[in-house]
Amino acid sequence: MDHFAIRDGVLHAEDVPLTAIADAVGTPVYVYSRATLERHARVFRDALSDLQNVHIAFAIKSNPNLAVLRVLAREGFGGDIVSTGEMKRALAAGMKARDIVFSGVGKTRGELREAIDAGIGQFNIELEEEGVAIAQFAAKMGKTATAVLRVNPDVDAGTHAKISTGLKDNKFGVPIGRAPEIFARLAALDGLAMRGVALHIGSQIFDLAPIERAYAKVGALAMELRAAGFEIDRVDLGGGLGVPYERDKAPPTPAVYGEMVARVTKDWDVTLMFEPGRVIAGNAGVLLTRVIWVKPGVHRPYVIVDAAMNDLARPAMYDAWHDFEAVEPVGKRMVANIAGPVCESGDTFAMNREIDAVKAGDLAVFRTAGAYGATMASTYNSRALVPEVMVDGAAFAVVAERVMPEALIAAEHVPDFLKD
Ligand code: LLP
Repeated sequence: MDHFAIRDGVLHAEDVPLTAIADAVGTPVYVYSRATLERHARVFRDALSDLQNVHIAFAIKSNPNLAVLRVLAREGFGGDIVSTGEMKRALAAGMKARDIVFSGVGKTRGELREAIDAGIGQFNIELEEEGVAIAQFAAKMGKTATAVLRVNPDVDAGTHAKISTGLKDNKFGVPIGRAPEIFARLAALDGLAMRGVALHIGSQIFDLAPIERAYAKVGALAMELRAAGFEIDRVDLGGGLGVPYERDKAPPTPAVYGEMVARVTKDWDVTLMFEPGRVIAGNAGVLLTRVIWVKPGVHRPYVIVDAAMNDLARPAMYDAWHDFEAVEPVGKRMVANIAGPVCESGDTFAMNREIDAVKAGDLAVFRTAGAYGATMASTYNSRALVPEVMVDGAAFAVVAERVMPEALIAAEHVPDFLKD
């Protein structure tokens, strides 16, 4: 459930008509609902309430906006980071260093040092050499870094190939068969406290069966390591729960997911860690856009909107579906292609789609854009970097400014050797 709904003929975010945001901030603009973020955070937490020890680290990559992180920090969430840039955001938003988990297959040596220095709570080690480097850096600083070994369980998550991560040929984790020997070698190093294992098999998952298989495999590994004498007190189960991009296609609810987790993990006796991203932020945001033209096409008209693939990359990258809705629907429908202004055929949000009838000048939204939306935006075609707004009841605030081409140009330099 989210807090975007039509009231008096106008789509509102909580108590704010989106027309008011378009007037004040312009378009395109991402709009987040604080109440929706909080609701999703609570639903996820409640779904895990039967479990004993739980740590939830929001996958910051899905929405790193400081205000969003602040809302989630206040809900008691930590952060799952994949760069020290994200670490800085998490800390700036009020997350505690000890609640931060550092994932990612290519953490640089500089980033590892920075994160050890900041005292982050857990490193998810992706390869043996990385563990050795962490141990050396930590020992040199007189510290002990807490870590888990990310394993690749070789399970097909059944999602889009570009967001699958748990197949043996993917770049993530160490092969589960080699995990015991690698774990043992890392556990022997000074500066490193190896405390468990981690996995993440993919994103936008609709079928719990592969997740359950992967969890069972990793649980068996954790028990094997414990039996071998290692102190195993945590298993990081990653993120990946899907969201309904299309209203009639429902993924498993967090509650059903929570029941599965409780069943699979009941004898593990560890702290369970979770890294949800999309399920928290996805439906807490929309991309508000204005129709520039409705251009006749050969088969269907093209609705040309002022948002483009640089603002919302998911349709171009993954053929992803985002519902398109008029802000002030007139009750009529049309079949159209929806495209942005960028000079690429791939800058198309939908083809041959039945949508609310719109005309030039109308406002519309792409739904379910709160995760992997603004964070993946670019300035391609020298377009401004899309701004973000957060709504809280009847109030709203710009939480990321529109970065104008002038500011981007100011960060570039024509070198002396090119000056006349
Ligand atoms: N943990 C790890 C280690 C991850 O790699 C990811 C996402 C997550 C947690 C969060 O997964 P979530 O709960 O959000 O599914 N840009 C793509 C999604 C990439 C996901 C990458 N990893 C998209 O727009 O669909």
